[in-house]
Order: sequence, then structure tokens, then C-alpha cells
Amino acid sequence: MLKSSFTPIFSTFPAKPLSPKPLPNAIFSCFTHTAPTVRQNASPNTPTTILPPPTSAYIHLPFCRKRCHYCDFTIVALGSSSNQTEDDPRMINYVQLLCREINAMKAENKANPPLETVFFGGGTPSLVPPKLVSSILETLRLKFGLSSDSEISMEMDPGTFDAKKMKDMMELGVNRVSLGVQAFQEELLKACGRAHGLREVYEAIEIVGSCGVENWSMDLISSLPHQTPEMWEESLRLTVEACPTHVSVYDLQVEQGTKFGSLYTPGEFPLPSETRSSEFYRMASRTLSDAGYNHYEISSYCKSGYHCKHNLTYWKNKPFYAFGLGSASYVDGVRFSRPKRMKEYMGYVENLENGLVDSCESTSSAQDMATDVVMLSLRTSRGLDMKSFGEEYGSSLVLALCKAYKPYVESGHVVFLDEQRRAMAADELNALLVNEDKIERSPAYIRLSDPDGFLLSNELISLAFAVVAP
Ligand SMILES: C[S@@+](CC[C@H](N)C(=O)[O-])C[C@H]1O[C@@H](n2cnc3c(N)ncnc32)[C@H](O)[C@@H]1O
Repeated sequence: MLKSSFTPIFSTFPAKPLSPKPLPNAIFSCFTHTAPTVRQNASPNTPTTILPPPTSAYIHLPFCRKRCHYCDFTIVALGSSSNQTEDDPRMINYVQLLCREINAMKAENKANPPLETVFFGGGTPSLVPPKLVSSILETLRLKFGLSSDSEISMEMDPGTFDAKKMKDMMELGVNRVSLGVQAFQEELLKACGRAHGLREVYEAIEIVGSCGVENWSMDLISSLPHQTPEMWEESLRLTVEACPTHVSVYDLQVEQGTKFGSLYTPGEFPLPSETRSSEFYRMASRTLSDAGYNHYEISSYCKSGYHCKHNLTYWKNKPFYAFGLGSASYVDGVRFSRPKRMKEYMGYVENLENGLVDSCESTSSAQDMATDVVMLSLRTSRGLDMKSFGEEYGSSLVLALCKAYKPYVESGHVVFLDEQRRAMAADELNALLVNEDKIERSPAYIRLSDPDGFLLSNELISLAFAVVAP
């Protein structure tokens, strides 16, 4: 069964990764484990591929009014009434620290290309005063350069911004909003411990529209406690009516150490059964596809041309910077996560300034990289590009993957595609794998089917791990 996959490998992926059972590779440790001391943190091994410099940056702004009952992200709870954040010293000090981290970052190469995407994730970035956001963007601009048509996304919570704040953010260059709605039922918002109600949801949608934000996304969570199919149907219908250009649908992940973790057991009432959760996933896939959204990644849907460029960086296994408390970067082949506690993060920045930390000092092994590529690309509707995978990691792995997935092609969970992205028929497939140790012609792509393959993604990705990193 699919488990939640809210990004950032990624929103911290640098959202959350899928969690297939055996996790042999470096990628998960950055997103799921407490950050160890900085030097241990970088994944060791021999250099393999030379990666280009990043053109994406994730910025973690951890402040929230309160912690939601399902949330285990790295946040700082300010208190429910804290909408007036203009002069909050906690924010001012944090942003100063963050800018120091950006400035202290090594690998200054004036020939590097400018940033193409910036993602302000949280936490609740929309709580941060525009003048502080401005100083972060200015610091990034001076350090790396910022492309004039860069995608600048910001996670925004209902009830934390008005039209003036929205316009101020747009003037700074924010051109993509990710609105955390989660549900369209007052009782579910309350049960989630959200700091806003339904009225603020509608107000936020209205503000985003009236301010002319063209590119905006809505986050929803399925499988919430006491959520019925009728409620989920209603949330999907109201989402479609609000006309966002992008929708992210996450299956609730019950995290240890959260309020939900202490109250509920997955699969048991008042949480839905696995069968019902799967049905929720199918309903989302069907409703959003029927409404003209392209299901381009396990949890992501977009209108044509409105995929999230920043998140595609993660799914294409391209490098990205990350700055701020608990954030995870991927630079020079190294996945590196920053401390999650403020005091340790302060120490980390100081050490960075004094040249005592090098977050780019070693690279991932070829095996780490191959498993990352498989896991990330199988999340997408594009799938795994077998030609470039074979060139990079060898034809024997291509053969092994094709053999492992053949039964799942027959069961309809996996699709082999040719160069024209046409699904290969069973007889073509048999012709490919005529004998045990030779492949006549590799399929151009392997992808998971929608929704059945995506629903089985944990198992299918684990299977690939067993092949790539036995
Ligand atoms: C970094 S969070 C966004 C935080 C933002 N303050 C908000 O509440 O919208 C990104 C998204 O992850 C999803 N999310 C967070 N924790 C989750 C969990 N335990 N299970 C499923 N989805 C979750 C929510 O949909 C959330 O909007």
C-alpha cells in the first residue's frame, strides 16, 4: 500500500519520502533520521558521477503558530495568536543565521549558473514578514544569482496572510503558492489541530485568486481519522472548483512522537482500513484526472505546464542546495542534513563560517546513486529512463530490473514503454527477454501504472532496491 510521500525528499525531500521497507541507501537517512554530527552526516564512498552545480535551493522557514497533530517536521511553534510576526526576534535572529549559512557556503564559483528554482518550505513560511523574505532572496541573489524567470515557491497557510502580504511576497518574486488546505470539513481541520478553520481556507483561496497568483497548488491529506468517502469526495470536488493549477494529495502518515501517533494505529478505527485508503487514492486519481489534471508523480497532479519545477529537481535526482534548520541538500553527490535543533544549527553555522564543516566533502557510491535514481524516477509518470540508467550503471542491472518487473507487467502494476512511450505488449516483452542472461533490446522506460502500480509503489521500489543493491 502506498504510504505518504509528501516531498521534499523532498519538502525536506525536503518533503517526506515513501518508506519502502528495506532502505539501503543514503537518501532516506537525510530525511528520516535525526541529523548526526556534521562530518558523519555526509555519505562516504568513492566518487562516481560528476554532478553539475545546483540551480535549485530549498529554504526552511520553521515557524508555525502551533504544531498540527500529524506533523513531525522540524518546526518552531510560536503560539496560536502569533500572526503579528513583524518584529518577532525569533524570526529576525533565525533569518540572520540562515543568511549567514548561505554566505558561508563553500563552492563559490562565479561561473556557476544562477538559481532557477527557490522553494520556501516549512513550517509556515507565510508567517515570515516580507522584509525578511526579501533579505533571504537578496542573499541568494548575491551568492548564486537568480534567474529572471526563476520559479519561487512558498508554502502558505490559510489565516496567515492577507492580500497585502500576498502582494508584497509577489513583488519580491514569489510566483508560486503552495496552500496547505488539507481538508474541506471543519471537523477534520479541528481534529488535525490546524490553526485555521474553513472560513480562512476560503479566504486564502480568494486572496490567491484576487492577487493574480497564476501558479498555485493545494495540499490535501487523505485517510484522516473519521474521514468518510463522502467527505473525501467533497474535498476533491471543492478542490477542483477552486481551480488550482497543481494539487498534492498525501496519504496520512502516522508518525511516532506526534499526537496522532499516540492516539491512532494505522488501519484501525477511526483511521480507515488499507482498502479504504487505497480507495481514497483511486478516487483522487480518477477525480483529478477527469478534471484535466495530469498525475505526474505519486502525490502530485498538475494542469498542463504547471508541474512544480523545484520538486522535479528532486525526482530527477538533480543536485540542490538547502539552507536552514533540519534541511537536507544534495551537492556534489553528497546528501547532507543540517541539525534539527536550533542550538546545534547555530553551532553548525558558526563552524561553517570558521571553515570547520564541509558539507561537500565526499560523494555517494554508485550503488547509492543507482537506488536513488530508481526510487525517485519510479515516483513519476515519466518513469525510469532505461537508456541513461544502463549507460550510467551497466546493462546487467537493466536486465536484472526487467526480469524482476516482468511478472508485474503481466499483473498490470508496471508498464514497459518504447521510445515513443507506447506501452509494450506481452509478446514484445517476451521477445526482449528470450533467455536468462541476455536482453535483446531494453525498453526505453519503465514506469508504475496509475493507480495500481503507484499503490504498490513501496513493494515495487523495494524490489528494485533488492536488484540494484542486493
Ligand atoms: C511541509 S508541510 C506544509 C506545512 C504548512 N505549514 C501547512 O501546514 O500547510 C507540506 C505538506 O505535507 C503534508 N503533511 C505533513 N505531515 C503529514 C503527514 N504526517 N501525513 C501526510 N501528509 C502530511 C501536508 O499536506 C502539508 O501541507
